[in-house]
Amino acid sequence: MSARWRKAHDSTGAGCRPDDLGSVTAMSERSGDDACADPSAPKVPLTLTGVPETLLWNLYHRSIAAADPDNPFEDPKAIELVARIDYPFEEFVTEHTDYLARWHALRVQTLDAEIRRFLTANPGGTVVALGEGLETQFWRVDDGQVRWLSVDVPEAIDARAKLLPEGPRQVSVDCSAMHERWMDEADTDHGLLITAQGLLMYLPLTEVEALVSRCARRFPGESFVFDSVPARMVHSRERLGGTGKGAGYQPPPWVWGMQASVRRRLSVLPGVSELREVPQVKGHGLVFGMLLPTLRRVPWLAELMPTFPVLRTQFASRT
Ligand SMILES: C[S@@+](CC[C@H](N)C(=O)[O-])C[C@H]1O[C@@H](n2cnc3c(N)ncnc32)[C@H](O)[C@@H]1O
Repeated sequence: MSARWRKAHDSTGAGCRPDDLGSVTAMSERSGDDACADPSAPKVPLTLTGVPETLLWNLYHRSIAAADPDNPFEDPKAIELVARIDYPFEEFVTEHTDYLARWHALRVQTLDAEIRRFLTANPGGTVVALGEGLETQFWRVDDGQVRWLSVDVPEAIDARAKLLPEGPRQVSVDCSAMHERWMDEADTDHGLLITAQGLLMYLPLTEVEALVSRCARRFPGESFVFDSVPARMVHSRERLGGTGKGAGYQPPPWVWGMQASVRRRLSVLPGVSELREVPQVKGHGLVFGMLLPTLRRVPWLAELMPTFPVLRTQFASRT
């Protein structure tokens, strides 16, 4: 266990944020639930731009899915957060919002399921969430033992600190996923799972390759789970000039998309022993529950589906 993790564990004062932790924030013993539950708290203004602003887009769609009584996806904290943030969320609304929200929920549930599998096999293991934004995944998958490392750029970590106070098993690092600083905080004592949800499609593919290679070198025997966008969706969005139908907000463009050639490139990176697709959880309703899962099992059709493939990279153990 690194010294900073021990510090996060050992700190007892409520609201404690020891100065000597530098930019690693070891937060109080208070559970995030206390802070989020106060309906009289003033709204928190957030002014984010570029890729960091997309964290609000994701949060909003998760909250819509969570508020849908027909959707089994549960995320009360996402609903609370949207209510607490001062931001023009109405600019995200389009005729496709409900549909998009279901996609978001499916993608997130697929990653949640993979994290739960990891935690079952590795009690007390560490999850590193790269580009975590205002994800509330910790609260969805917490088994009472997991240790959680959030990594994001400073403005996003600042938003997290304001809105999602951390408990004793959570630590944040405000640096780029490309920076090795977070790697020094990642504890492998009880197993490590690195995740990147909604991040890699915004980084150049060469940077993604560099990141995966660096992780493979630093964390032999561990795994990295990430989602991606099918190349076809990237190309059609380029053709349409963004999402096209948004009332006011245009997310930044995705930089690359998943296809067979990219999968081959990632699977032969040094230190990568396996790259496989994580089975998507079954959604609800005829389209999400039956039709799409069936069609996705047909290899050549899978690439044509407007879904977000989730992949798991296994790193080779050091011999
Ligand atoms: C689409 S949001 C996803 C947020 C969250 N994972 C989710 O699914 O709700 C993209 C996130 O990546 C973060 N990000 C962008 N560039 C980054 C980088 N180089 N390193 C780490 N995080 C980055 C943004 O700040 C933002 O939080």
